[in-house]
Amino acid sequence: MRHVNLWASLYHTGMATPPKLDPFDIVLFGATGDLAMRKLMRALYRRVCSGQIPKGSKILGLARSDLTRAKYLDMVRTHLEKELNAKEFRDADWEVFCTFVEYVRVDATKAEDFDRLAAALAGRDDIVRVVFLSMAPSLFTAACKNLAAKHLVTPKSRVVLEKPLGKDRASAAAINDLVGSIFTERQIFRIDHYLGKEAVQNMMALRFGNTLFEPLWRRGRIANVQVTVAETIGAEGRGDFYDDTGALRDMVQSHLLQLLCIIAMEPPASSDPDAVRDEKLKVLRALKPITDGDVATKTVRGQYRAGAVDGQPVPGYLEEPGVPADSRTETFVALKVEVETWRWAGVPFYLRTGKRLPRRMAEIVITFEQVPHSIFEASRCPPPNQLVIQLQPDESITLKILAKSPGETMRLKPVDLELHFADTFKEKSLDAYERLITDVAKGNLTLFMRRDELDAAWAWIDPIREGWHQGDEAPRSYIAGTWGPSASSTLISRDGTWHEEE
Ligand code: BG6
Repeated sequence: MRHVNLWASLYHTGMATPPKLDPFDIVLFGATGDLAMRKLMRALYRRVCSGQIPKGSKILGLARSDLTRAKYLDMVRTHLEKELNAKEFRDADWEVFCTFVEYVRVDATKAEDFDRLAAALAGRDDIVRVVFLSMAPSLFTAACKNLAAKHLVTPKSRVVLEKPLGKDRASAAAINDLVGSIFTERQIFRIDHYLGKEAVQNMMALRFGNTLFEPLWRRGRIANVQVTVAETIGAEGRGDFYDDTGALRDMVQSHLLQLLCIIAMEPPASSDPDAVRDEKLKVLRALKPITDGDVATKTVRGQYRAGAVDGQPVPGYLEEPGVPADSRTETFVALKVEVETWRWAGVPFYLRTGKRLPRRMAEIVITFEQVPHSIFEASRCPPPNQLVIQLQPDESITLKILAKSPGETMRLKPVDLELHFADTFKEKSLDAYERLITDVAKGNLTLFMRRDELDAAWAWIDPIREGWHQGDEAPRSYIAGTWGPSASSTLISRDGTWHEEE
């Protein structure tokens, strides 16, 4: 298989025999939490089984619960058995994985608990130490302060910060200031797991590994862009967290804006982390602010009520555990966004995300301009070409073109040119966290957000939330299992319809 040089280092991590890493330690705060159990342990297990995480590395699970190592391993095993199929979860592999794992009881706010961590890390200052903060951002500063106070931050330490980093620009700045006083910017890995998805990197390959699309990738050629990340799940037992966060901060501020950056950025000069991040930052800074009156016309927020998803009845958001009965938290957002640059002026970007939508799907739809003049009698207004990039559940690229239907008359019909990655490439791709954890161990920052990117994202998001609160309007209600409030279709109607409505 041939790869484009620019992205070779990123791609090669997905090959069947990945390069071995040097032994490293991962110190996982929040080790009994949802993310650790559902995604991080699975990622570490797979990398240990692949041989990429070598002997001599340690996985230290840290949490407040008073658990023995055996009890903790039982918990991990129960989750892995659920997350992995029988072919992947094998007793022999599990035995090997267990030799890497330890459990340390640590309350991030209690300095004395860090003595136990210091004991577990004694004599290991010379190897890479990855401190993964998989817990509420309100605990980030306490954890970092205590690590520093106990001299556990070594020159080879790196800290991974999970999103959402803060609740707004000011709180994100406060966290960044504190973390930045203990770790240098090159030691800070702000994670957005969407950047670790194979499909998102394929977007970069599509744009910067080919010459075909570049001349078309601009105003005058592209009429509009849609980005949808739809989920079927609801608050999923995370009612407390979710209600305090909402879709705008949980999904748009991070995942959707990062996707937008990759679509809209200028080609970076190299794959050097700062070359890529500089270009993404320019996009974030060029987003036209949505303030005051624009909030009502360019944003739609919704909240699901009881309905059915996949044929199963589901409760409304307000009935979910942990959600206050009068909550106004949005579970759906649609936005009309403009990027004020020469390349994109006047091209609307429609972003949409929601929980309890009809199917799990993430896709980008690039709609090209109409033909300026149709010479075919029967097709006075032919549908425009579209490039549909599906990120999940399956990865595919579809180019929609018009072709002549066989027969005597000149009848044009839309047809699809399709590329399905699973059929084309036989190798299994890494899941996002597998890739990102190994990138941290290698010290590769390309797929992580820099402080100024995060700041620019919050600076753009904050006025939208303020506008919503000033307006005193509740989110629009939508039935679970539908594509959100009808206002979302109205939002896009000047430029067309959402892809699934076509
Ligand atoms: C997380 C959000 O960042 O992304 C969740 O906090 C969301 O609310 C999840 O469900 C979606 O990730 P994925 O990879 O399943 O699309």
